[in-house]
Amino acid sequence: MFNFSPILAKFVGSYDQILVILSQSLASIGCCDYPTLSLPDGEENKHLEQVEKIWDFLLAHNATRKSLLVNVGGGTVTDLGGFAAATYKRGISYVNIPTTLLAMVDASWGGKTGFDYGQLKNSIGVFHAPVDTIIDTRWLSSLPAKERLSGYAEMLKHGLIADKSYWEQLLSYDLHQEPDNKEMQQLIERSIGIKQLIVSQDPKENGLRQVLNFGHTIGHALELSTIHYPLSTINHGHAVLYGLIAECYISHALLGLDKEVVTRLVHLMNEYYGKPQCDCKQADRLIERMHQDKKNTNHTDIRFTLLRAIGQPVWGQVVDEHLIRESLDYLFSV
Ligand code: GLY
Repeated sequence: MFNFSPILAKFVGSYDQILVILSQSLASIGCCDYPTLSLPDGEENKHLEQVEKIWDFLLAHNATRKSLLVNVGGGTVTDLGGFAAATYKRGISYVNIPTTLLAMVDASWGGKTGFDYGQLKNSIGVFHAPVDTIIDTRWLSSLPAKERLSGYAEMLKHGLIADKSYWEQLLSYDLHQEPDNKEMQQLIERSIGIKQLIVSQDPKENGLRQVLNFGHTIGHALELSTIHYPLSTINHGHAVLYGLIAECYISHALLGLDKEVVTRLVHLMNEYYGKPQCDCKQADRLIERMHQDKKNTNHTDIRFTLLRAIGQPVWGQVVDEHLIRESLDYLFSV
């Protein structure tokens, strides 16, 4: 059993009490000496009732504005815990201890908190940054392969939007090895560095931060289309990988991105991720969902982040529905 209390020792003097939200999937793996609420991880659980459970937990322990909430788990737990902390008594401090690769490189950084509502991803939320995010790659040893791939897709996105040599490094990483190793630690640090640099320049996503959404316009539509079908659910990272393929296809068609990038992503899909297996291939329904994307500024245009080349993203690009359909046809047939 991994007791993470010593990691929290540095906060003890600064807060009147420490309260912990722990992903249910870690109940047999991690523990601590503080009052703990167990919550299910996974996108299908990212809804208001879970937030209410955290508010109730905070109230039951008489949490004050001087209390600290610690979120231990994947992106669902860090997003829900962050939102509960942002809103409880108009805002208390929180710390993230991400335990999935995806949360380590993406969800636990940058202060986006919230939950899914009205069948839309993260449609209710606020920006509220954690006071600290603590990365410990030992958590990764117990992570299922599918979850590792999910985080790896977000790392590929970081390489594509920011750094060609990082992208090449990721492609040459052996995904079959145990993930708690020096090379993976360095890759995680590079991804976090890329995200932090972007967020520091545009914390509230008025422009530049939209580059972090590359692959997500189509990815979120796919993810949401399957969320209520437990047998064919596409998890976030897999959806991002599929979204990267389709959006690199569009980038090639519109901005001349090298077709080789698309080919290499398709190769990864076929070798590791598998093709999208879902009842989600109706382009009309997917496009309807894309119209709800937060990057859109009106009800008619669908806006994307696209790539001119690796490391050269452009945001706010309106793409014609015909080309979106073509990219989906490509994704589902390749
Ligand atoms: N996950 C994208 C962002 O934090 O902006």
